[in-house]
Amino acid sequence: MAGIDTIRESWATRAGFILAAVGSAVGLGNIWRFPFQVGQEGGAAFLLMYLFFILLIGLPAMLVEFTVGRRTNLNAVGALRKIGGRTWQYVGGLFIMIGFIILSYYSVIGGWVLRYFTGSLTGGYTADSEAYFVEIATGFDTLLFHAIFMALTVGIVALGIKQGIELAVKLMVPSIIAIMVGLAIYAVTLPGGAEGYTYYLSPDFDVLASEWRSIVPAAAGQAFFTLSLGMGVMITYASYLSKDRNLAEDSGVIIGFDTGIAILTGLIVFPILFAAGLGAAEPGPGAIFIALAGAFSEIQYGLVLGVLFFGMFSIAALSSAISLLEVVVSYVVDEYGMNRPVATSIIGGGIFLLGVPVALVSDGGNPIVIDLYDILAAEILLVTGGILVMVLVAWFHADKALDELSKGIGSVGILGSVWIWLVRVPVILVLLISLALAFLGYYEFLSDEFIPFVRG
Ligand code: TRP
Repeated sequence: MAGIDTIRESWATRAGFILAAVGSAVGLGNIWRFPFQVGQEGGAAFLLMYLFFILLIGLPAMLVEFTVGRRTNLNAVGALRKIGGRTWQYVGGLFIMIGFIILSYYSVIGGWVLRYFTGSLTGGYTADSEAYFVEIATGFDTLLFHAIFMALTVGIVALGIKQGIELAVKLMVPSIIAIMVGLAIYAVTLPGGAEGYTYYLSPDFDVLASEWRSIVPAAAGQAFFTLSLGMGVMITYASYLSKDRNLAEDSGVIIGFDTGIAILTGLIVFPILFAAGLGAAEPGPGAIFIALAGAFSEIQYGLVLGVLFFGMFSIAALSSAISLLEVVVSYVVDEYGMNRPVATSIIGGGIFLLGVPVALVSDGGNPIVIDLYDILAAEILLVTGGILVMVLVAWFHADKALDELSKGIGSVGILGSVWIWLVRVPVILVLLISLALAFLGYYEFLSDEFIPFVRG
């Protein structure tokens, strides 16, 4: 392993680590995926289930990944091998595969966001927001913007931890937060937006009772996706960390920011949609784009808002994409001693290729490959990755995890055991149920939507 004798980088500052983790967490998951899941899975009922998953599963799961990363100071594959032995490196291999899949479509959507940013500058989408989406969602231009987004991601990651990722997130994350807060305050002033808040904030328990089979796996998948859990991002980021950090406190801060931004997105998006007379978004990956662009064309100062919103959205997508790429890059750099810029470019090229069908295949204007990749990645693969790491840590190496957690805290006391037992039984159990439901849901998607589409 050639990488071992070269000096491994670390974060320059505490803020660097937290901002990188927040930058990773806050992204398309909060601004694109979250509102479209809320719209698709029953509004506030979904919101409630999602919050439950964040607190009960997201927090303990993030701590698990942090302890693994900081304990080993290794990339995700190396970390799991060091803790669990050789068999567990295949779980690390699963992470690498998930990174490829998620970033491949993430980058296509990132390209859409860049496109909407330019569309706000030129007023390109004001005539017919639905036609605009259909036009930009798939096709050769889509591929071009996918390439641009990927190139930006590669550019940052190639520069390394301190000079690339840390510097980028120090500029990006504060801008995201400032713009989001500004937009949410503006949304309050919109006439007719009140209904949006009602839809978003009043849970309908009948929906929860009748639709839990799809709400549960959707909420679990969303919790993993939005917190960047289940594929080693947080292992990798924590591996660049020194021993004096309080991991529990840092997790709390990171989750607080991510959840805050997701809730804030709802507080921006739903009033804007209702104010423009559009109502909750139609389900589907394009919904939020069509609806928001439509709304920005309707309301006063809409295009200025569009520039701010899609500008912020581009930054948020980019600061997450770099974390997805970093998982794969750190693996190749650590394990094979490959030169970082070279590794980053080759891997970025590979991920670009995997995204080609996402950018080109259209089911009557609907980019259906996104659903194919996204449901598989979020609801099945991330949850599987999460369960496996939790089994390894909580069942087989709880002593090491507790020892690692206590560094930077002192004594973790009874809360440490609560954490381990929470993970050992209820968390893993709920995730297994969710995984089973996700398989059923994915089977339905394949047989009802994807296979009929492929057959024409
Ligand atoms: N959390 C990011 C978002 O919400 C996406 C993301 C970055 C991610 N890294 C990840 C999702 C790792 C799952 C796993 O947009």
